[in-house]
Amino acid sequence: MAKKYFIKTFGCQMNVYDSNRMANILETMGFVKASNQRDADVVVFNTCHIREKAAEKVFSDLGREYQIKLERAEEGKDTIIGVTGCVVQAEDKEILKRAPYVDFALGPLRYFRLKEVVNEILQKREMQLLDTEFSAVSKFDYLPENKTIGGCSFLAIQEGCNNFCTYCVVPYTRGVEVSRPVEDVLREARCLADSGTLEINLLGQNVNSYHGEDANGKERNLAYLLNKVAEIDGIKRIRYTTSYPADVDDDLIMCHKNIDKLMPYLHLPIQSGSDDILKKMNRRHTKSDYLKVVEKLKKANPNIGMSSDFIVGFPGESDADFQQTLDVVNQVKYIQAFSFKYSRRPGTPAAVMENQIEEKVKKERLQILQDLLFDYQTKFNESSVGKVMPVLFEGKGRHKGQLTGRTPYMQNLYAEADFSLINKIVEVRVASASTNSLSGEVI
Ligand code: SAH
Ligand code: SF4
Ligand code: F3S
Repeated sequence: MAKKYFIKTFGCQMNVYDSNRMANILETMGFVKASNQRDADVVVFNTCHIREKAAEKVFSDLGREYQIKLERAEEGKDTIIGVTGCVVQAEDKEILKRAPYVDFALGPLRYFRLKEVVNEILQKREMQLLDTEFSAVSKFDYLPENKTIGGCSFLAIQEGCNNFCTYCVVPYTRGVEVSRPVEDVLREARCLADSGTLEINLLGQNVNSYHGEDANGKERNLAYLLNKVAEIDGIKRIRYTTSYPADVDDDLIMCHKNIDKLMPYLHLPIQSGSDDILKKMNRRHTKSDYLKVVEKLKKANPNIGMSSDFIVGFPGESDADFQQTLDVVNQVKYIQAFSFKYSRRPGTPAAVMENQIEEKVKKERLQILQDLLFDYQTKFNESSVGKVMPVLFEGKGRHKGQLTGRTPYMQNLYAEADFSLINKIVEVRVASASTNSLSGEVI
């Protein structure tokens, strides 16, 4: 019987992409995907270090996996436990101390070694392997073809980040920003289109600062790449995530006017509406810079829907600072957003700043912000009722006979539909709306 693997993914879309690539590697080795964790001979936890809660959850989940490993051992089954992702990079040797039963730990830039590492462990069962090198080699050059099957696929076009926002661990866990060459990205995009991808989401932590080389060694920007990806026949929808406000250039704004395949939705995190806080965060934009970019985008495509990330309770944030954040929300009227309480991350400059904000205040501010955000999100969803929208169905819904998919605005939509419509784009009339989803009828 074929050996089975199970990958549990925490964190951002970048990690989802990396997990898919690790699945590609394990499948080339003859492993098949396990339907549940208990059946798996190799279990990989692909981890996130962005906030304390996310990082701590990894260790409780690992502990549970160790119990499963012991139970499987009683049935005579061996289990390899691996950890990858940003917690590995951040904890380094500590991870093997905190979770001594782990067989291997690979940083986010090193998982291309998965095949070699698993084979080595299978041969020498008692060994433990850790690799967190910030290597000069590009992991992408060592990965097998991207065979991710599904209507929507992620494609990492960049790794790392040079922005060093003072609250953020990413530059330390993912290293310096590196753009993949144009031809590599296009080859992977064509490969995904050939295996059924209709929607492609180009990924980077600072994706709009993309500056990959083309075949002639000339540096090209994201706008160039978007135009090239749009030329691929099978690709019907394009998105890109996550953009940095100060790096949105006019070429990119014009893409929202000129590329029909580019979805009318943009995730553009502002983090805070206060210029003082933005400065302390080391963000290279002010509130008014940000609002100007949004205005230009809305001019290029009046139908564009905006989304953002917010942090409340950053050190020194006053009530007046927080009001500025609410003011931005009222001006932009986001159709979706993600908001977080500031989490103190060891090793980042903000962790040792004065005037850390009390948990109680953070909690109150988050509640106020989320109430406002949900209000706009609900209003937007309600304005969709009665409209006909192309929906890309991604899988089964909560109820029998139901599928779930996404509208161009990233809204979740449920509809009664045949399984054969999974991974297809179908016209749907929106019948009802709530804060988090829509329901509709296939036309
Ligand atoms: N590169 C992207 C996303 C990075 S992480 C960007 O710059 O937008 C995703 C989000 O997590 C961030 O946008 C930020 O809102 C949040 N985040 C990052 N570090 C955090 C911290 N220490 N505490 C709370 N939220 C944090
Ligand atoms: Fe972190 Fe800032 Fe880079 Fe985003 S842009 S990954 S928040 S350092
Ligand atoms: Fe988390 Fe690393 Fe992504 S810290 S948000 S998995 S880049």
